[in-house]
Amino acid sequence: TGAKPVLADIEKNALNLDLNKMSKSVSKKTKAIMPVDFNGRPIDMKVLREFADKKGIMLIEDAAHAIGCYYNKRHVGTISDVGIFSFSTPKIITTGQGGMIVTNDKQIYERAMALKDFGREIGVKKQMEKSFSHSTIGYNFKFTEFQAAVGIAQMRKLQKRILKKRMMFKKYVDLLSNVKGIEFLKTNLKNVTPWMVDIFLKSSVERTQLIKYLEKKQIGTRIYYPPIHRLKPYRDTDQEYKQASSFSDRGLWLPSSVTLTDKQIRIVCNEIKQFFK
Ligand SMILES: Cc1ncc(COP(=O)(O)O)c(C=O)c1O
Repeated sequence: TGAKPVLADIEKNALNLDLNKMSKSVSKKTKAIMPVDFNGRPIDMKVLREFADKKGIMLIEDAAHAIGCYYNKRHVGTISDVGIFSFSTPKIITTGQGGMIVTNDKQIYERAMALKDFGREIGVKKQMEKSFSHSTIGYNFKFTEFQAAVGIAQMRKLQKRILKKRMMFKKYVDLLSNVKGIEFLKTNLKNVTPWMVDIFLKSSVERTQLIKYLEKKQIGTRIYYPPIHRLKPYRDTDQEYKQASSFSDRGLWLPSSVTLTDKQIRIVCNEIKQFFK
């Protein structure tokens, strides 16, 4: 598209875009702001929406982690111009791969429908003669009917899984929040369904030691994503993005499958406590 991404650091409380820092990097050329509701914790949408409206900038919200999460009684992703959700395999509900875009804007809807279907306009496939007329450049991002069938079946499990994810997070917090060396982010489980349980260690060295210790006990974990500015296509100095670097180096996802039993969670937490003894 020729668009140039401009990065901004995250804030400490929920790991969302730091609105102060973001506002300083906005210029006349800025077309859209792309916040991420990290692990389902919503960004301050009231402030962000007001800012974007004042500047005439669109909001494209990455709510990939955030199904089952609310901001002021609205589902996250629905206050932005566009919200995206992921249904990849590790998500709360999955279609194997794929996801969902939500918007109230008819033009955006029509454009998205064309883009995912080789640039075909909506409905042309119903008429054989028109079905090979491609009115714009597009791609093959089609979601198959097989996936949709899985998605419908998964949707029926959503409410149960939301409850399970919230209870699981609470259980981990109850069992581990007194452990020195482990930090949880404050998470309001009335509105937030954490996709996975995330903890923060004091340093990346300690994180590696814990991962190795748990591995020996056959407990799998997953490191946090690297910050974008350290990836090859966006490489930039760490200076500007200190929070992103720090949280990325210290963040660890704990076992969070909806199939985990309370007993298994207790075993994981006991091993973590053992490590810190
Ligand atoms: C924050 C965030 N955004 C976007 C994505 C991409 O989602 P998908 O794999 O469905 O394209 C992911 C994947 O986990 C994610 O964590």
